[in-house]
Amino acid sequence: MANVIISGMQWGDEGKGKIVDLICPAFDAVVRFQGGHNAGHTVKFGARHFALRLIPSGIIHPGTACVLGNGMVLAPDAFFSELESLAAGGVEAGGRLWVSERVQVLLPAHAALDQAREAARGARSIGTTSRGIGPAYESKASRCGLRAVDLFATDLSERVRELLAQVAGGALPAEDALAGLVTDCRRWGERLAPYLADTAAMLHEWIDAGRNLLFEGAQGALLDVDHGTYPFVTSSNTTAGGACTGTGVPPTALDGAIGVLKAYTTRVGAGPFVSELHDEMGERIRQRGNEFGTVTGRPRRCGWFDAVAADYARRLNGITAFALTKLDVLDELAEIPVCIGYELDGKVARRFPSRLDELARARPVYEVLPGWQSSTVGILREADLPANARDYVRFLAAQVGAEAVMISTGPRREETIVRDDSPGLRRFLGERLEAVLAGRGA
Ligand code: IMP
Repeated sequence: MANVIISGMQWGDEGKGKIVDLICPAFDAVVRFQGGHNAGHTVKFGARHFALRLIPSGIIHPGTACVLGNGMVLAPDAFFSELESLAAGGVEAGGRLWVSERVQVLLPAHAALDQAREAARGARSIGTTSRGIGPAYESKASRCGLRAVDLFATDLSERVRELLAQVAGGALPAEDALAGLVTDCRRWGERLAPYLADTAAMLHEWIDAGRNLLFEGAQGALLDVDHGTYPFVTSSNTTAGGACTGTGVPPTALDGAIGVLKAYTTRVGAGPFVSELHDEMGERIRQRGNEFGTVTGRPRRCGWFDAVAADYARRLNGITAFALTKLDVLDELAEIPVCIGYELDGKVARRFPSRLDELARARPVYEVLPGWQSSTVGILREADLPANARDYVRFLAAQVGAEAVMISTGPRREETIVRDDSPGLRRFLGERLEAVLAGRGA
């Protein structure tokens, strides 16, 4: 058995949702541990297409339990509307979807503050998803937040008053706003109640019973509030350590993380991006890779694969095996540069700088690989890839210092190479690898 984390190794949007959906048959439950409805996961299977924000993509698999851990911030209305769209798509979540009683509630006032702050920052804005993620985590850290279980507190009115004052920078809320929010909180509590559980205790029981758990990271390592490109980051720990604090599962119960890397790099929002393309090539990748945000629809910034950043993410997450996504997006290119070093003040290094001004000044050092200029779409065996595509994947793996155990050759679950001969993948999936292959089809 294995308990495994799926970690984004870039700035998010690596395609984690697809990989979680693919390997889900090897696990009994999928657990989210950080973030909120800033995340957007798209899962395509056959003719069906689901866009998920809060609920793990595991919910698409009948019989898979899904858990929203204490480390998340949950906007109740967003959660309810996601439940409704799942139900409309024929997915029944009742009885196998659990929300931590300790999850922080994200209020409309958090979203309003996020938007007001971003507007006030003007040219220096972070480019947040404007969902209120940062302010919700601030309320938590300032110990004014409301956890789901607090929606039933006898002193709810006082708690809400204190929270609204914290969000408003000390100003006391108007009585009608306060009363309205207290009513909303009671309504949210009632509707959430069937899903609420002491999920840490539940996960401990499942682990004791030998169940396999998959921890689904949101965003990516470079957006981690501690290790990312601060302040151009999200407000949670997106790296593997977050899986422990965000669920109550101890590190001794975890078997490691599988990373997810896109065959090139993208970023939404502001902040330094060393291998960014500002030219027609960036636009070409954006169009071919459909690089537009699933949450906000914003065009993503595009650039070449950055091995310096990926190597940093490998170390932060302890990655030995990774899934490479969107290889097919590069199919038409004659040449594909890969950033293998940062040149800073005349020196070339492979260190990912903490100082933002250094990161902004760093120039990419490229090794240019030949493209393959033929279609890889839907290829299911590594041996069937064009030789140059195989070499590209091997080059990235050597640069990152980990093994590419899955290679995605299209947006659908069925369009994925699974290296079933890899001990590195078997270590995580064990005998259930056969179930993963069966679920992929072909
Ligand atoms: P926030 O998480 O909404 O506060 O946004 C902070 C930064 O993280 C911004 O640059 C966002 O674009 C980025 N971000 C947040 N969630 C995602 C995601 O799921 N994918 C990619 N970027 C994200």
